[in-house]
Amino acid sequence: MNRKMIIAIDGYSASGKSTLAKNLSKKLKYTYIDTGAMYRSITLLAIRKKIFHSDLWNIKNFLPFLININFQFKWNNKLNRTDILINKENVQSKIRSIEVTNKVSLIASIPEIREKLTIIQRNFENKQGIVMDGRDIGSNIFPKSDLKIFMKGSIEIRSYRRFEYLKKKGKKISYEEVKKNIFYRDMMDLYRKISPLKKPKDSIEIDSTLISTEKQLNMVLQLIENIKFCQKK
Ligand code: CDP
Repeated sequence: MNRKMIIAIDGYSASGKSTLAKNLSKKLKYTYIDTGAMYRSITLLAIRKKIFHSDLWNIKNFLPFLININFQFKWNNKLNRTDILINKENVQSKIRSIEVTNKVSLIASIPEIREKLTIIQRNFENKQGIVMDGRDIGSNIFPKSDLKIFMKGSIEIRSYRRFEYLKKKGKKISYEEVKKNIFYRDMMDLYRKISPLKKPKDSIEIDSTLISTEKQLNMVLQLIENIKFCQKK
């Protein structure tokens, strides 16, 4: 039997989840779902609706905009990546802005928003073979995933890698600012009430501090082979 799997990748900010998820999805020809991009897209909408200009009451006004929200993930041949579309608008480049990154964990802590995205994310189960990355995939979205990976890394290396990535993209931000944002998001994600970042008991932990992306990919591909072998028995 060659059943297509659900692979859940969770972990700390900038720990290499999306790189591993993208590499795996390419290798296995699976659909890649970046749930962080979904929270980021909603944050972009919230910024546009100016909800941060006032108090939390404004969030209540914002929630009706999410009733018929629509997400699509589309392969971008030109840039060799998966783009996210919200309400048919391609926002892939806009959601990586510093403004969105500074606000996203606050948006991700709002119960109504998590409930909405949980429903949408669970619907991807119908796809044949998925790699989904985020904070609560193995613990909450797909607790019965075939494979759960949990990624961590030292705050210094995670900040340095993210800083280098942003520098290459031409973003003007210091290493210290990046580190501050990553620390803030770690805290927000670890200590929020709903679906906090937590290593599922049945997950395999990868510390990406000293391991190359190639080695991480090969380790996980080997794990998948072992799972398939056991499932055949
Ligand atoms: O790529 P990076 O690790 O910086 O973050 P991301 O995966 O794009 O996620 C952005 C933010 O969305 C996180 O810091 C979390 O606050 C939130 N998030 C979440 O709460 N649950 C998820 N399943 C995915 C992301």
